[in-house]
Amino acid sequence: TPRVLSGIQPTADSFHLGNYLGALRQWVALQDSHEAFYCVVDLHAITVEHDPALLRRRTRVSAAQLLAMGLDQDRSTLFVQSHVPEHAELAWVLSCLTGFGEASRMTQFKDKSAKQGASAASVGLFTYPILQAADILLYSPEAGPGERVFQVPVGEDQRQHLELTRDLAQRFNHRFGETFVPPAAYIPETAAKITDLQEPAAKMSKSASSPQGILDVLEEPGPMRKKIMRAVTDTGTEVRYDEENKAGVTNLMRIYAALGETSYADIEARYAGSGYGQFKKDLAELVLDTFTPIRERTQKLLADEEQLDRLLAQGAERAGAVARRNMEIVRDRVGFVGRGR
Ligand code: TYM
Repeated sequence: TPRVLSGIQPTADSFHLGNYLGALRQWVALQDSHEAFYCVVDLHAITVEHDPALLRRRTRVSAAQLLAMGLDQDRSTLFVQSHVPEHAELAWVLSCLTGFGEASRMTQFKDKSAKQGASAASVGLFTYPILQAADILLYSPEAGPGERVFQVPVGEDQRQHLELTRDLAQRFNHRFGETFVPPAAYIPETAAKITDLQEPAAKMSKSASSPQGILDVLEEPGPMRKKIMRAVTDTGTEVRYDEENKAGVTNLMRIYAALGETSYADIEARYAGSGYGQFKKDLAELVLDTFTPIRERTQKLLADEEQLDRLLAQGAERAGAVARRNMEIVRDRVGFVGRGR
């Protein structure tokens, strides 16, 4: 069976609609057709200043939300990155294969570090994409003859990190022999980039958007409706897909089409002549129909922390077995002496 791996940072009290449509919805769908590994990347979460108690809570809230969305330990493997120490180990090896200039070209680093002042950014933030490459390649199916499919379901903003991962896989293979299957990005066509409700030119982002610009998965119905009704549109009245001139409406249409499983033409026809009000009202109901059951299940899962931790331990066990096997091969290829038995 083809394999997928993906990760998400536990850096907010809730995931948002961009995470859901850009990535998480695909995670759930892929568990039936693929051998799937999904991780909550707490090592990545400490690349910026963080609060330990908050990180601990958000890691559990993240795992609970993923299970509430439909991830199932019997059909996929969900785990916490720091439970499998090989992630950090492989990251070191890969960092020794990455050029300084190559790492300096990562646009997410440039954006994030510009915000703090470049010299205030941590070295960890700089090497973040290399740790991400390690997350992925540690779960590479065995390389060699035969078609092996290895995909990474993510939003558009991760494309450059995936390119780096492919380059590192190929470089490693070239220097040390066929080891990794270079992974392919799996990016949804319609919802690859959900934008900020208040600033339709910017992506909806945990770190950059204002609360008014974000729709949280765990948001209560009242505020959820308000934010959608207040989403920035334009001075016109036409519900029409037009990225250039109607970025706000177009973003809302993308959300509508993805959640309502319908086409843009259909939405345009349905709201012809009725203005933005009814369209937004219906969109709010679509969002709530999707997120309300997830919010309720998340709360239930969080009520039994021990059970949640047990589920995560199961995931770590399975992921760890794959990671250890692959890391053993990497150590050998690189030339490290095996630890005698
Ligand atoms: P993170 O935690 O920032 O985001 C998680 C996922 O959500 C997608 N996403 C979006 N998609 C569409 N529209 C948006 N506005 C939007 N905002 C976020 C992201 O593309 C991502 O798929 N570096 C990764 C985490 C990571 C990872 C990995 C991913 C670490 N190791 C290994 C894949 C494989 C990240 O920042 O995700």
